[in-house]
Amino acid sequence: MSTTNSIEIDIQKAATSKISQIDFENLAFGNIFTDHMLLCDFADGAWQKPVIKPYEPFLMDPSSRVFHYGQAIFEGMKAYKDEQDSVWLFRPEENFIRFNKSANRLAMPSVPEPVFMDGLKELLKIEQEWVKKGKGNSLYIRPFMIATGTGVIAAPSSQYRFMIILSPAKSYYSGEVKVIIAEHYSRAANGGIGAAKAAGNYSGQFYPTKLANEKGFQQIIWTDDATHTKLEEAGTMNVFFRIGDTLYTAPTSERILDGVTRKSLIELAEREGLKVEVRSVLVSELVEAVQNGTLKEIFGAGTAAVVNPIIGFSYQDVYYELPPTENSYALQLKEKLNNIQYKLAEDTFGWTVKV
Ligand code: COI
Repeated sequence: MSTTNSIEIDIQKAATSKISQIDFENLAFGNIFTDHMLLCDFADGAWQKPVIKPYEPFLMDPSSRVFHYGQAIFEGMKAYKDEQDSVWLFRPEENFIRFNKSANRLAMPSVPEPVFMDGLKELLKIEQEWVKKGKGNSLYIRPFMIATGTGVIAAPSSQYRFMIILSPAKSYYSGEVKVIIAEHYSRAANGGIGAAKAAGNYSGQFYPTKLANEKGFQQIIWTDDATHTKLEEAGTMNVFFRIGDTLYTAPTSERILDGVTRKSLIELAEREGLKVEVRSVLVSELVEAVQNGTLKEIFGAGTAAVVNPIIGFSYQDVYYELPPTENSYALQLKEKLNNIQYKLAEDTFGWTVKV
């Protein structure tokens, strides 16, 4: 058992580590998990003592609410190692706050900050060997919560499990990214759960994204459900458009996830003196800009994807390819962001938190 600043955690160490069997140079995103996981159960109206134990499957009742009504939320974060071997988190408070907003929207209990934050730090201390040095290397952190209460009545569960699992990661997309702009399917609607990091927001995209994949596109850029005229976000990342020398991104809303990378890039771009406008961009503006040569860049921003250039888009069955970019804002911003995350540049924003 170990005592951290504010909570007690039961720690059961794995007898052996699988780390020596991992090829850290060839990692497919999210396939390999570290030796330990954290779990904390909510029962009888209270959070129980968190446990860190060997990563392993666990038993669940087939009637657990998560299986039937999708009461499930998650977060995506990353840990980075600096040249002195210290491990750092990037704006973890933002993920914690968003996690509990998602919990609230899905009628789930809030996770106490010490369980989330101290639990995560303790887990990372145990798994620090899994965080590899060097730009591009990171340990992807997946906190999540599921409804474990039993019975198929369509109502919120009274029992939940909060967990954190860790996966060594390189980039999410390994090749070029082309997108389709949504004309029929929708990711979210006003009053819905689009702003929450709810499992159902992702499964709802699988089918339209599969159709896009079959046509050779990696992602969909979602448009507003009511008119399909405003560009919103891609399934795994927020999106930025550079038209002329101005960077545009949609405002967050009930339909759009308040991405941590998105908000960091806006602040970084402004600090770099780039012109940024947070406003809805119309599909028609994008088509016009690509046709008149003012559309310079489109890129996605997210924890897993980091900053990912999008080389072209399809709309109404016409494919528009972007010209090669000189002086890419995406690459400049990615470099600045990574330098802060890997502690290669001074963190004047106070975003990084030592584990
Ligand atoms: C993340 O960037 O962490 C995400 O949550 C995207 C995920 C679907 C891979």
